[in-house]
Amino acid sequence: MIKFPQDFLWGAATSAYQVEGDNVNSDWWQWEKDAGRENSGRASRHYEFYEQDFDLAKSLNHNTHRLSIEWSRIEPEDGKFSQEELKHYIDVILSLRMRNIEPMVTLHHFTNPAWFSKSGGRENRRSVAKFLRYCDFVIRSLGKHVHYWITINEPMVYIYHAYILGVWPPEAKSLLKAKAVEDNLVSAHTRAFRLMHKIYKELSIPKPSISVAQNMQAFVPCTQDFKNRFAAYLRGKWYNLGFLYKIMRRKAVDFIGVNYYSRQLVELEKWGIRNLAMDVCKNNHHPVKKNSLGWDIYPEGLCEVLLKLKKYELPIIITENGISTPDDNLRWEYIHDHLENIHLAMEKGVKVTGYLCWSLMDNFEWDKGFGPRFGLIDIDYSTYKRTVRESAVKFGRGCKTGELE
Ligand code: FCB
Repeated sequence: MIKFPQDFLWGAATSAYQVEGDNVNSDWWQWEKDAGRENSGRASRHYEFYEQDFDLAKSLNHNTHRLSIEWSRIEPEDGKFSQEELKHYIDVILSLRMRNIEPMVTLHHFTNPAWFSKSGGRENRRSVAKFLRYCDFVIRSLGKHVHYWITINEPMVYIYHAYILGVWPPEAKSLLKAKAVEDNLVSAHTRAFRLMHKIYKELSIPKPSISVAQNMQAFVPCTQDFKNRFAAYLRGKWYNLGFLYKIMRRKAVDFIGVNYYSRQLVELEKWGIRNLAMDVCKNNHHPVKKNSLGWDIYPEGLCEVLLKLKKYELPIIITENGISTPDDNLRWEYIHDHLENIHLAMEKGVKVTGYLCWSLMDNFEWDKGFGPRFGLIDIDYSTYKRTVRESAVKFGRGCKTGELE
């Protein structure tokens, strides 16, 4: 039996576009239509059913919930802000507070307003000022109800999919653009961080706790060849830590948000920049169980990743961790084993203060559509009926007692 601290944050995460439905002013909505892709449509209809969903989270003993604000609802046209949508998010956050669930709010979770993308999106240097204007509007009203903020979800995943692989909007495949986007995101985060702290001070609200949610992977060399070890080391530095270093150097981090899912088995075909960055083992060496998207299940990697963060002496919150699978026993095994590894890291001195499972409910998994089931709660998309999975009940026991068998 292992035991987590009394004040540990327990709960689940969602993002607006993936659960709300009808985000018609978002660039992703536009992209789905233009590219003739599976439409997010009504998603999980969380925009309407959030009270019911939070009742379920409460019944599962969650004390924290991570959600995101859809910028395109708040600012559907350049410079035009919607009081009505702002009110919606205030209601959402207050309904968490009423249930004694701590909200953690993400300001940017992959999607942008369509008008913003048309004017160059994150490639454009002016995107930073536009993002700050949106943050200012939101923080002034929500500040007094929210302590934990994530400015940007998974900057590296966003850059990689949208600007290097080109499989997400705006489908760019350009290292130059990717670099510009990274610089702009570093600047957007840093300036938002400072602005938010300033507003809290001005309004005499106790200091907020702000971070990004950084996707981290376990980069494991397939064989102990120098080139595989070197590539794994480089990827850890660049992909897991690069963005964080930049914002830590600017003193713009209150805690570290970690999204952890999987392992990458690193095996280089030959020396080369692209090989160093991308090559993975294709021969099924060191097989492990996989999720329904083919991602390796590798819980010990979470402990390894956490130990690498120890030296920064900042509190760490697991802001996402979860599995898409039709096998609910495997879902519980996944959550359980990752919690065990978090605890192991904590025993070795890493200060982890919370764990948020991805996701509270089944939802729209970006370019993969509705197929993958990441939810603690099942959604029947023909009726939108919610059904709590057995794994959620087991996790809920842990949330209540802080203990794990
Ligand atoms: C993360 C994203 C989240 C969800 C999970 C499965 O990379 O932040 O929105 O799609 O993966």
